[in-house]
Amino acid sequence: MEHKRHARFVAPEPPNNDKRWKLIDVAMRRNGYAGHALIETLHTVQDCFGFLDGMSLKYVARSLQLPLSKVFGVATFYHMFTLKPQGEHTCVVCTGTACYIKGSTELLDGIEGKYAICPGQTTKNNSLSLLSARCLGACGLAPAAVVDGKVFGNQTAPELLKEIEKVVE
Ligand code: FES
Repeated sequence: MEHKRHARFVAPEPPNNDKRWKLIDVAMRRNGYAGHALIETLHTVQDCFGFLDGMSLKYVARSLQLPLSKVFGVATFYHMFTLKPQGEHTCVVCTGTACYIKGSTELLDGIEGKYAICPGQTTKNNSLSLLSARCLGACGLAPAAVVDGKVFGNQTAPELLKEIEKVVE
């Protein structure tokens, strides 16, 4: 017997071609793009990007068909979520298993040695915020980090510091 079909929900296009959005989509699709998947989705965004910013919150709101105010409210209510840090530039170091095994700790140590910040902190002059993520979706490039949205793979501490120096005064 034929069941009446609901109009198919068409998920919105991701904000850009960063492949981490695919991981977010997988999490939302797994829950049928239902509103109750909000917290899990925000966790996935944070795991992949290191923090939640306006772009990701808007995308999640559109995809789950929730008011942005609700998504923003949940993101700010729970302490487990990190909103976009105040630093002018951001460096997100992946501390997921593959990156950890390949030396993400050295990357963090290198940054801490030079800028005196740990994940979750921002330099005193607000030029750089350091964050960690659980998987950038680039495990084949471990250890990986993202500087101002650009993914750098197979990094050593000096290499990553060089990339950071290019953007931070
Ligand atoms: S564990 Fe680091 S990119 Fe996947």
